[in-house]
Amino acid sequence: MTVNFSNIGVIGAGAMGRGIAQIAAQAGSEVLLLDSFDGAAARGRDAVLAQWQKQQEKGKLDAAQRDALSARIRAVDSMEALAGCDLVIEAVVEDLEVKRKLFKELEAVVSPSATLATNTSSLSVTAIAAAMKHPGRMAGFHFFNPVPLMKVVEVVAGFKTDAEVCKRLAGYATQMGHSAVQAKDTPGFIVNHAGRGYGTEALRIAGEGVADFATIDRILKDQAGFRLGPFELLDLTALDVSHPVMESIYRQYYEEPRYRPSVITAQRLAAGALGRKTGEGFYRYPDGAMQQIPEPPVPTVESIPSVWVSPRAARRPELLRLVHALGAQLESGATPSSAALIVVAPLGFDVTTVAAVERLDATRTVGIDMMADDAATKRRVLATNPATRRDMRDAAHALFARDGKAVSVIRDSGGFVTQRVVATIVNIACDMCQQGVCSPADLDTAVRLGLGYPQGPLAMGDLYGPTNMLEVLFNLQTVYGDPRYRPSPWLRRRGALGLSLTHEEE
Ligand code: NAI
Repeated sequence: MTVNFSNIGVIGAGAMGRGIAQIAAQAGSEVLLLDSFDGAAARGRDAVLAQWQKQQEKGKLDAAQRDALSARIRAVDSMEALAGCDLVIEAVVEDLEVKRKLFKELEAVVSPSATLATNTSSLSVTAIAAAMKHPGRMAGFHFFNPVPLMKVVEVVAGFKTDAEVCKRLAGYATQMGHSAVQAKDTPGFIVNHAGRGYGTEALRIAGEGVADFATIDRILKDQAGFRLGPFELLDLTALDVSHPVMESIYRQYYEEPRYRPSVITAQRLAAGALGRKTGEGFYRYPDGAMQQIPEPPVPTVESIPSVWVSPRAARRPELLRLVHALGAQLESGATPSSAALIVVAPLGFDVTTVAAVERLDATRTVGIDMMADDAATKRRVLATNPATRRDMRDAAHALFARDGKAVSVIRDSGGFVTQRVVATIVNIACDMCQQGVCSPADLDTAVRLGLGYPQGPLAMGDLYGPTNMLEVLFNLQTVYGDPRYRPSPWLRRRGALGLSLTHEEE
């Protein structure tokens, strides 16, 4: 196989440079590794060799293959040694001035036809290339950590980048076994931009006292299928990394309310409760393992009152079948009897608003999140309003847990937990499409591979229904009066017309 680039230089032999060197050699390129810190390039090379040794021990490589790979990677100690490279990828410290200076020097060394790339995750590719004589040959080539396992790379076109350069880098990414996605040079590119919704909305929900961290995590894992809850994820990445990213994206987008960070993480960062690596974050990690927080038990109740379901409930036929299957007596009157448990299932609205608008007895009213198909989820979520009586809350909890499915009871919140978080993620993704940050297909690929979400954000919106997403956001905006919930034009139009969120205009 002939590769797009046969002689590669990698500058910076840290976590990222090593990984890039490894997959470049695996693709068949000759790789030169350079680092300004004495001995770092050789250590980087040794670390890559150790990876291949491990693969040989596991039977994934034979000795001849390992030797061939090892011969393809060399440590060098000067930029001049990179003169013959047809591609140089920079993965040094994240500092604009350092990177600018590096590319200016590099340009004077390599041939005029060589391609140059930066692995920056948060700086502007355009700004890094601005000091170059030929910025057209420079692009962002943003890998994720650990590079060999995270199979996606963002190819970022700066203001002056030639389209051909992006095309060749994307082709090379495929040869390295990675999926390339094309991004405009905008803050956070694709993955770090699309990832803004999950944590920030969960933090807002927690900040309002709707539910505790562990409950929010359980709901998003069991109801929406996320592998890690937002607070588990924040603990894993550590707040000294994630809080500054939240602030940086917010600032770079001139304080766009959709990306507003939370005072919760600012304060925890100040306290040093960074997450797993400090032994204390949202969870505690005695001896390294996460301490599980026990779930509140299902209450024991003597009897369940008859149940009246609001005619405006989401998925009402399904909800009626569910209540019947759980063995409760259903009321069919136009209004609830004087002892009935009243069940409402709003999209975006809070239980309080529904009880007031439908003139229901709030003391007996409980909400259930029916946005998702009940059969497709592992948890049901109920919400009380400030007037809900304890016996009614307990009766609802016991009823909906009767078949053994997990139930969480939260305080009143527009959109429960899943509706709020999913609609926020979907809305941000739609706005990225509206702004032309990337194509809808690349957005979903990048987020699935880069963040491990169960679906790409647009597929997620299609799963729950674009019209439902729009309704949730409209109603959240009414409940909270917060511009962060205003629907993106991309979602407004597709949601209103019942089109898929991946639909592009002809
Ligand atoms: P690192 O600190 O592990 O490695 C950086 C290496 O660059 C060090 O070995 C250092 O000695 C060397 N270096 C610093 N200045 C240099 C210069 N002027 N010339 C040559 N070598 C120099 O950093 P890491 O994590 O590998 O990050 C590198 C780049 O990749 C940064 O731009 C970072 O933002 C980006 N990135 C990092 C990710 C991560 O998760 N660590 C993910 C995606 C991108």
